[in-house]
Amino acid sequence: MSITFDKETQQFHLHNGGFSYIVQILGNGYIGQVYCGAALSPARAYPLLSLPFKGFANAPNIARFEYPAYGNGDYKTPALAVVFSDGSGVIEPVYKTHRITKGKGGIAGLPATYTEQDDEAETLELDLEDAPSGLKITLYYTIFTAYNCVARHARIVNAGAHKLTLTSAMSLCLDLGDADWNLFTFTGMWAREFHCTDQRLRSGTQGVESTRGISGHQQNPFLILKRPNADDFSGEALGFSLIYSGNFYAGVEVDSFDLSRVRLGINPNTFSWELTTGAVFDTPEAVLAYSGQGLNHLSQQFHGLYRNRLASGVWRDKERPVLLNNWEGTYFNFTEKKLLEMAAIAKDLGIELFVLDDGWFGKRDDDRTSLGDWFPDTRKLPEGISGLAQKITSLGIKFGLWIEPEMISEKSKLFEAHPDWAVGIDGRVRTEQRQQYVLDMSRSEIIDYLFDTLSKVIASAPISYIKWDMNRSLTEPFSRALPPERQGEFFHRYCLGVYTLYQRFVKAFPDILFESCCGGGGRFDAGILGFAPQGWLSDDTDAVQRLSIQTGASFAYPLSSFGAHVSAVPNHQTARSTPLSFRAMTAFFGVLGFELDPAKLTVEEKAELVQYISFYKQHRSLFQRGRFSRLHSPASHIYAAWQVVTEDRSQAIVGFYKLLTQPAKQPLRLLLKDLDPSAIYEVSLWEDGGFDAMDKQANCGQRGGDELMRGGLLLDIAFGSRTGDFHSELFLLRKL
Ligand code: DGJ
Repeated sequence: MSITFDKETQQFHLHNGGFSYIVQILGNGYIGQVYCGAALSPARAYPLLSLPFKGFANAPNIARFEYPAYGNGDYKTPALAVVFSDGSGVIEPVYKTHRITKGKGGIAGLPATYTEQDDEAETLELDLEDAPSGLKITLYYTIFTAYNCVARHARIVNAGAHKLTLTSAMSLCLDLGDADWNLFTFTGMWAREFHCTDQRLRSGTQGVESTRGISGHQQNPFLILKRPNADDFSGEALGFSLIYSGNFYAGVEVDSFDLSRVRLGINPNTFSWELTTGAVFDTPEAVLAYSGQGLNHLSQQFHGLYRNRLASGVWRDKERPVLLNNWEGTYFNFTEKKLLEMAAIAKDLGIELFVLDDGWFGKRDDDRTSLGDWFPDTRKLPEGISGLAQKITSLGIKFGLWIEPEMISEKSKLFEAHPDWAVGIDGRVRTEQRQQYVLDMSRSEIIDYLFDTLSKVIASAPISYIKWDMNRSLTEPFSRALPPERQGEFFHRYCLGVYTLYQRFVKAFPDILFESCCGGGGRFDAGILGFAPQGWLSDDTDAVQRLSIQTGASFAYPLSSFGAHVSAVPNHQTARSTPLSFRAMTAFFGVLGFELDPAKLTVEEKAELVQYISFYKQHRSLFQRGRFSRLHSPASHIYAAWQVVTEDRSQAIVGFYKLLTQPAKQPLRLLLKDLDPSAIYEVSLWEDGGFDAMDKQANCGQRGGDELMRGGLLLDIAFGSRTGDFHSELFLLRKL
C-alpha cells in the first residue's frame, strides 16, 4: 500500500520509498498539512509531527492547510473562494469521508497524468463539505510508485439549493512550515524563453502568472523551491508544475510566522465560474515532485512522469524523426519546385521528414492575410497539398504540415463570412498582434468548423506530422456566446476549446506526430504535452541562446519534448555565427531538426551533416529518452555541459560546450553523474564532430565509473587558445 490511514492520529500517509506526504483531519474537520519531504517509515504514525491546531484564535502561527478557504481566520490567500447567492463568501470545508483506490482516474476535458497498470499509483480522494451552503469539494491525490510525484486536483460541486460563483479554485495548495527556500522560476520573452530566475523567499507574495490566454513566453507554469544550499547535484527541492495552457498563477506567500503557502492553478485574476445547482467544476491537475538529491534528480522525476504517463499516443515511445522545416530557409517565399529541391537534398542528407511551414494557404505571401482560409494556394502549389505531399513522399521522405487553427486574418474569406468569430467587444478597438485576430475557441461551432476544414486537408494527403502554431496572445477577452455573468469563464473556456480540438485531431489521426508551437515557446507547458508529445521550444535557433533555453526547459520537461533545430549562420535571431558542429551538438539534446535551405550548404557542410545525422540517428533513443543531467550551467557564459545516460547505466553521452574563451585558466573539471561506480567505462571522443587532441589524450581510455563521477573529465586544457569560442565536444561512454 502506498497510501495508509491511521485512525488514531487521523493521518493519511502517501509514500513510495523516496518521498512522504502526510495530511491529517484536524480537530475542527479541516484538512491539515503535516509533512512533505524525504521518505518516512510507513509502518508508524506521526502524532508528534502534527501540531495541536484547534482554531485560529488559539494558534494562527501553526495553521497549515491543504485547501484553505476564505473568511474563517486564515488570512493568507485561500485556495478556494466563492460568492454565494446572498453575496457572502465564507466557506468551512470540513472532512466527510474518503476513498483510497489503486491507479488513477482522468479529468474530463483536461489533460492529466495517467496509469496503465493499477500498481503504478494509488489515489486518495478526500470529500469535504461546507454544510450551510451545500458546497462539496473532493481533493484528489495520486502518488506514483516510480516517481517522487504527487498529482493533485480538486472537484467542486454545488450541491446546494442556489447558484454560486467560483472566483478562485486552485489545483494545489501546500503550506510549508518555514520560509528557508529559494524560489526558482523560468522567465523570458519571445526568442528568450526559459531563463532561470533564482531568489530567496521574502515576506509577502511572489510568483509567476499569465493573463494572456496562453501560458506565455514570459513565465512558465512551473516553479521550484530549493533549499539555499541545494544545486543540481545535492540538496532538497520541491517542484510544482501545472498541467494547463491558459492563464495560470504559481506562487508562494510567506506570512509573518515564516510559513510559506504555495498555490498553483487557474489565475484567479481573470477567472470566475458560475455553478448552478448540481454543476461540477474540475480544476486542472498540478504535480508536486520531491528530491533530496538536488535539482537534476528533481527534474528526472518530472521527465519520467511526463514522458511516460502524460504524453500519450503512438508517438509517446517511438523514436522521433529528424526533420527539415522550410521556415528559416524560405519564409513565405517558396514554390513547389523549391520545396521539392529542398526535400530531395534533405533526403540525401539522411533527413526523414520534410515540414512545410506557414504560407501554403489562401493568398499568404506575408503575415497580413489568409489565416482561417485553410485552402492550398495553387499559385505556389499547383496540385495542392495532396500533390506536393505525394511528390515529397515519393522521394522517400515523409511529409508534415504547419497549421495555426486558432487564428483569423482580417483579410480572409473566413473573416468576411464570420467577423463575429474573432474575439473582441463590439464598439471597442480590436487589437491586432502580428496582424491577426484570435478565434473564439470557447464556441463549439468554431471548433467544429476548424475540425472539419482542417481534417479535409489532413485526410487529403499522406501527412505524418502536424505543427500546430499560435502566434499571439489574447486581447479584449470576451465571448459573444456567453451571457454577461459568465464572461469570467472566457479564458478557461478558450483553453478547454483548444484541448477539445486537439483531442479530436489526435483521435481522428492517431498516427500523426503533433508538435505544438506558439511563436516558439509561448505555450510550452505540461498541458499541451498531454496532446503533442513534442513542442517547438523557441523561435531562437542560435545555439548559444539554445543552451540557456534548453537548460531552463529541462528543469521540468523531458528532452523528447524539445524540438531543436540547426539553422544557418549568421543566425536570424542573433546574427551570431557558430560552427556547424556546435549547432548540431546543441540540437542533439532534444529532437533534432533543421531549419535552413539545404541548397545553400557547401559540399563540405553537406558531408558534415551526413555524419551528424547518422550519429544522431544511431544514438537518438539515448538523447530522447535517456536520464538527463545538467552538468554545467551556461549562465557562466564560459562553459555548458549536459549528459544523458541509459537507464541501465551501460552507455552515456556527455556534451561539452565552450562559449567564450578565457585564456590562461585552470582546465574545467567536469564531474559526471548517474554512472555505475563499480563499472569500467570505455571513454571516447566523437571525432567527426571536431575535438581537441589534448582533451582526447587527457580523458579517453578505460576509466572507472567512480573515477568519472568523483574525478571527472578534464576539459579545455590548452587554456582555450587552441579551440577558440563556440567549441564543442561529445564524449561517449560505454560500460565494459
Ligand atoms: C512562429 C513559429 O514559431 C515559427 O517556427 C514559424 O512557424 C512561424 N510562426 C510561421 O508563421
